[in-house]
Amino acid sequence: MSNNSGFEQISYASQVVIVTGAASGIGKSAAQLIASRGGVVICVDLNQAGLDQTVSEIKTAGGIAESAVLDISNQSAVMDLISSLGNKHKRIDALVNCAGYAGPTGVLVEDIKWDDYQKVVAVNLFGAIWLTQAVLPIMKKQKYGRIVQVASIAGKEGNPKMAPYNTSKAGLIGFVKGVAKEAALDGITINALAPAVIATPINVNTAKETLDYMISKIPAGRLGEPSEVAEIIAFMGSKACSFTTGFTFDISGGRATY
Ligand SMILES: NC(=O)c1ccc[n+]([C@@H]2O[C@H](COP(=O)([O-])OP(=O)(O)OC[C@H]3O[C@@H](n4cnc5c(N)ncnc54)[C@H](O)[C@@H]3O)[C@@H](O)[C@H]2O)c1
Repeated sequence: MSNNSGFEQISYASQVVIVTGAASGIGKSAAQLIASRGGVVICVDLNQAGLDQTVSEIKTAGGIAESAVLDISNQSAVMDLISSLGNKHKRIDALVNCAGYAGPTGVLVEDIKWDDYQKVVAVNLFGAIWLTQAVLPIMKKQKYGRIVQVASIAGKEGNPKMAPYNTSKAGLIGFVKGVAKEAALDGITINALAPAVIATPINVNTAKETLDYMISKIPAGRLGEPSEVAEIIAFMGSKACSFTTGFTFDISGGRATY
């Protein structure tokens, strides 16, 4: 080991990293931090204008980034994009999946329209599954990979009146636990992250009673910042995260201590 091996472990030099949800909030912050540590970052999102902005900010800061528009709830589009990125870059070192949305909030489960319920699960859970299915064969071939799935404290504890979101994030945590064991002998770690409320646009349409409830549960007494979440994501997606897999990391200002 060289003297600066600590830095090498968190460096992304010559690594190819896909970050979904990179047009905004946590995904944007993670893409910027990973690019600043040397990664070639492929920024993926539904929102072309937001992606352009992220990529331009990364390039201005001296980083390397490109963008791809994708709806992660479109299974064949997910498979096509990951396959073309694998062919183009010859490897995919990490997938950081931050794309997601809250769906109905402030609504009792019996009042939620089924279309709305399914759409949240299709994006937050099925999208995550399809991305994982697409990158795993590439990672297994190269005998190295890191998968980071941004779940939520809602998946561990459940917030009232946001049943579709709770369902999708709890499903994601369960998904990660099992698939991590399947890939544990291939140099691949797969982990989830459970943030409490973070100051991003996702909360703009959240019902006030739901938001107040979530903030009141945080002992630190404030919202988290996307840059704070990016730090833990950058660790989870790096070489340094080598002996933790199937785990759900916490970033909740003390709300969860398990
Ligand atoms: N902010 C919070 O309070 C909080 C808390 C816990 C978990 N999370 C999770 O963190 C992740 C990032 O959220 P954020 O707070 O940065 O929100 P955000 O709204 O700022 O960013 C989410 C991004 O995902 C993209 N997106 C949504 N649906 C998509 C789809 N079908 N395909 C591709 N891209 C899509 C959006 O365009 C947006 O750019 C989400 O999975 C969210 O559930 C957020």
